Amino acid sequence: MRGLQAICVTGGAGFIGSNFIRHLFLQPDFNGIVVNVDRLTYSGNIMNISDISKEYSQKRYFFAQADIRDEEEISRIFDRYAVDTIVHFAAESHVDRSIVGPKAFIETNVNGTFVLLETARRCWKDRTDVLFHHISTDEVYGTLGAVGLFSESSPYNPQSPYAASKAGSDHLARAYCHTFGLPVTISNASNNYGPYQYPEKLFPLMITNMMEGKPLPIYGDGKNIRDWLYVEDHCAALWEILRKGKTGESYNVGGGSEMENIQLVTLLCETVAEVRGVPAELYTRLISFVRDRPGHDRRYGLDCSKIRSEIGWAPSTELHAGIRKTVDWYLRNPDWVEHVRDNKFSDWIDLNYNRASSRESDATFEQGRARE
Ligand code: NAD
Ligand code: TYD
Repeated sequence: MRGLQAICVTGGAGFIGSNFIRHLFLQPDFNGIVVNVDRLTYSGNIMNISDISKEYSQKRYFFAQADIRDEEEISRIFDRYAVDTIVHFAAESHVDRSIVGPKAFIETNVNGTFVLLETARRCWKDRTDVLFHHISTDEVYGTLGAVGLFSESSPYNPQSPYAASKAGSDHLARAYCHTFGLPVTISNASNNYGPYQYPEKLFPLMITNMMEGKPLPIYGDGKNIRDWLYVEDHCAALWEILRKGKTGESYNVGGGSEMENIQLVTLLCETVAEVRGVPAELYTRLISFVRDRPGHDRRYGLDCSKIRSEIGWAPSTELHAGIRKTVDWYLRNPDWVEHVRDNKFSDWIDLNYNRASSRESDATFEQGRARE
């Protein structure tokens, strides 16, 4: 029987980690403590979790600003809080950054995961009431053609430095289970969207660019397909896996909502326009096709029959409803948007997104705003 009394969440100030901590405190059958271990890199933001901090800090919620690669600090956290569960989100998470600079991905995703696994092995010894849950991605399976889905037994075939670093960490986690008997579970999720996502990823980048009248860069022909998973559905799946997942098993967690990027961005434009009561054309005219991402995976799609049949989880948020909730959140939280789009983020735009020819789009936006 798993303890689930002292859950160490790594990367809990990031997008999915912060949503997960919030989800945990809403569970009537969770009465333990949460230790959030986050280095606060560019994508980690203490504001993402300030509501939980206000209500539970130093009672059931504890924050440690630490690097998962720091062995001493991680050991100290294990001892001090008597950690019995790890939910490991902390990672470098953006494919484009892994193309510009892969080193940090190997250091955090591979070496950092190694440090956590080693610490868990040393501190937990042969305990069976503990769990190391490793969060991974569908990107480890590589890319699909027009048909077919990846199952948990599909071979790993990562195509980007990000995916390769995640695949490496998955293999390490599995090896620690097989060789040392460390109780490990793994989940491979599809593309998440929802509140608190750093605006370098597709959803928040498009919504926040619309808010600022900036171009909406679509890579290549825009026909790449992703399976979109609302972040709260992902968090619900994770809580179920912690309680019911079988040690040593991997679970695919998909949204069952595949869509081409260009269709998705058009839908986002229509939704923002509907909420603001303006013509969709005001935003669709900002769409700019830009040079493709090198090695851009064409399609991801997950077969989620295992988690449905063994654990009883299925996504409950239909894509249009999830998009509406997400758009509402970003439009209602301009302070958060302003805070995260700071100088560091501007540098990133200069580095990568100057590919769009923005003049024409800017002019179109100004004309549209004049009509608004
Ligand atoms: P994110 O970039 O929003 O958050 C990552 C968090 O990890 C940040 O708070 C950051 O400060 C922290 N972090 C980074 N390096 C660290 C280090 N060395 N030590 C301690 N903390 C560190 O990412 P996310 O989108 O929330 O993704 C979380 C996890 O989910 C990742 O493992 C990612 O691979 C996986 N995942 C993400 C998606 C998605 O669509 N976002 C889909 C599938 C899987
Ligand atoms: P992203 O959110 O970076 O997630 P991932 O690369 O992990 O799937 O991108 C989702 C899709 O959107 C992907 O096919 C790349 C594409 N994309 C764009 O076309 N333009 C953009 O500005 C971004 C960030 C992504």
